[in-house]
Amino acid sequence: MNDQREFWNERFSREGYFYGTTPNLYLASHIDFLPPRQTVLFLGEGEGRNAVYAVERGHTVTALDAAEIGLAKTAMLAQSRGFEISLIHTDLEFWYPTQNYDAIMCSFLHLIEPLRSEVFAKSIEHLTSGGVLVGEFFSIYQLPKKTGGPKDLNLLYTADQLLAIITTLPCEILELCEIDTELYEGTGHNGHASVVRLKVQKR
Ligand SMILES: C[S@@+](CC[C@H](N)C(=O)[O-])C[C@H]1O[C@@H](n2cnc3c(N)ncnc32)[C@H](O)[C@@H]1O
Repeated sequence: MNDQREFWNERFSREGYFYGTTPNLYLASHIDFLPPRQTVLFLGEGEGRNAVYAVERGHTVTALDAAEIGLAKTAMLAQSRGFEISLIHTDLEFWYPTQNYDAIMCSFLHLIEPLRSEVFAKSIEHLTSGGVLVGEFFSIYQLPKKTGGPKDLNLLYTADQLLAIITTLPCEILELCEIDTELYEGTGHNGHASVVRLKVQKR
């Protein structure tokens, strides 16, 4: 817990919003097409840009993160726009969900194994029937690039690794791809990037 918490708290204690206040475009494109008034959980949500976008669109939103400074900024951003977001302060290693969600989403949540597989399994388990899990992550091809992301190969993703995890779970894959894209997200992600995108639906 302490490693992630300290690292991200230090980053989020700087002035401004490290990844900006506009949502990740892949997540936003799915938030835009959710049915009305869904329960949506954002994992590793940091300073809240995706969560705030979702709450502004009428959803009941929860943001989870190990870094309490990120969560405090999530709450501030939501309040500044007249909304409230539920917060869960925990490392995912100690996440024991107490409800199911219509959608669970994450952008750039980079976990090592076996935590990665455990979190995907727990997420699918805690989706309502027909609920969706949507995520965008840096792929291993991001490693040499200087446009953001972890510098530890173990934290990066491939579509094949995700496929191996997801095929063990009770869900259908709606999208799974490795793609190059342009990211303009605050000062944290800037320029040409290699990502993995995933959307699955619980059976
Ligand atoms: C690259 S940042 C992305 C933040 C946000 N999703 C965004 O795109 O703006 C990764 C986030 O995941 C959180 N995180 C990483 N590992 C975590 C863990 N094991 N448990 C909870 N949060 C974690 C960090 O605290 C950080 O806020």
